[in-house]
Amino acid sequence: MSMNPVLVLLQVQVPGVVEHRVTNMFEPLASPAAAEKNIALLVLAITAAIFVVVGGLIAYTIWRFRRRPGDDERQEPAQVYGSNQIEVAWTVIPILIVFVLIGVSARVIASVSNASPPKSMLQLRIVGHQWWWQVEYPQFGIVTANEIHVPVTGERNVATYIRLESMDVAHSFWVPQLAGKTDLIPNRVNYTWIDPHEPGVYVGNCAEYCGTQHARMLLRVVAQSRDDFGRWAAAQQQPVFENAQVAQGKAVFESLACVNCHVVKGTPAQGKFGPDLTHLMSRQTLAAGVPTNTPDHLREWVDDPQKIKPGVLMPSLKLTNPELDQVVSYLESLN
Ligand code: CUA
Repeated sequence: MSMNPVLVLLQVQVPGVVEHRVTNMFEPLASPAAAEKNIALLVLAITAAIFVVVGGLIAYTIWRFRRRPGDDERQEPAQVYGSNQIEVAWTVIPILIVFVLIGVSARVIASVSNASPPKSMLQLRIVGHQWWWQVEYPQFGIVTANEIHVPVTGERNVATYIRLESMDVAHSFWVPQLAGKTDLIPNRVNYTWIDPHEPGVYVGNCAEYCGTQHARMLLRVVAQSRDDFGRWAAAQQQPVFENAQVAQGKAVFESLACVNCHVVKGTPAQGKFGPDLTHLMSRQTLAAGVPTNTPDHLREWVDDPQKIKPGVLMPSLKLTNPELDQVVSYLESLN
């Protein structure tokens, strides 16, 4: 079956949930993104003014000193050897402009990344991997991937604080309507924070080239009311529901290399290289936001991940059709 992952992505819709599909930094819906929009507008205004002045002077000069009939072609133009006043003006003014821009940028960057969160705040640890996001909630003992659930707060002093790290190469966390890009760098910890003003799904992506599937390292932030977030967190804390009907599939799964890379809590599957699958069915998408999480897509993914994400680190295990059905039915039970 052929499938265009980009088209599939565009069709992801959850009934009753507003999806903020426009990843437009000029429509911010959280405080850091709003601060960044304001400074972007200031920079645009200053650079537009410089453009108009310089472009205007050039246009005027070209027009004023154009060639005219009767010009003496052999005569040199008048030779001018500069003016101290003009030299000083066009050195000092740009320096002042640059310092103003550095000052306002530094202030906004500091307010976003020098976050020292109060202990009571929701704190996340997000780890970048080629090519997916590991998402941990240390206060809740939850580990998930690629879809980040947070409460709607609308205020910095009750915001969600995010600690950003990388397992391999440099990545960049970017959800344009919530906050600007913050890099995830090996052996370094960066911070950002988000306080979504409205519930809904905010789409984002990795914004630092990190290898073959960089373009399909997508993420979604699901902003919910406090109650809904509490329900989600409680469900994520539940152990896996033992389902006798998929015992065969579970046995096949646990006999395969799957367990070396994936965790299913309370089972022998304790590998840490790939996403935690304990509550796989609670996610809307697979493979870092590429296809929607449907049984067909899951089957295609397990059958041969390289068809959907060429170069992805998950290999095809060349399962037979009955094995594939059993493994997929087991995965479908992880809700
Ligand atoms: Cu991760 Cu680009």
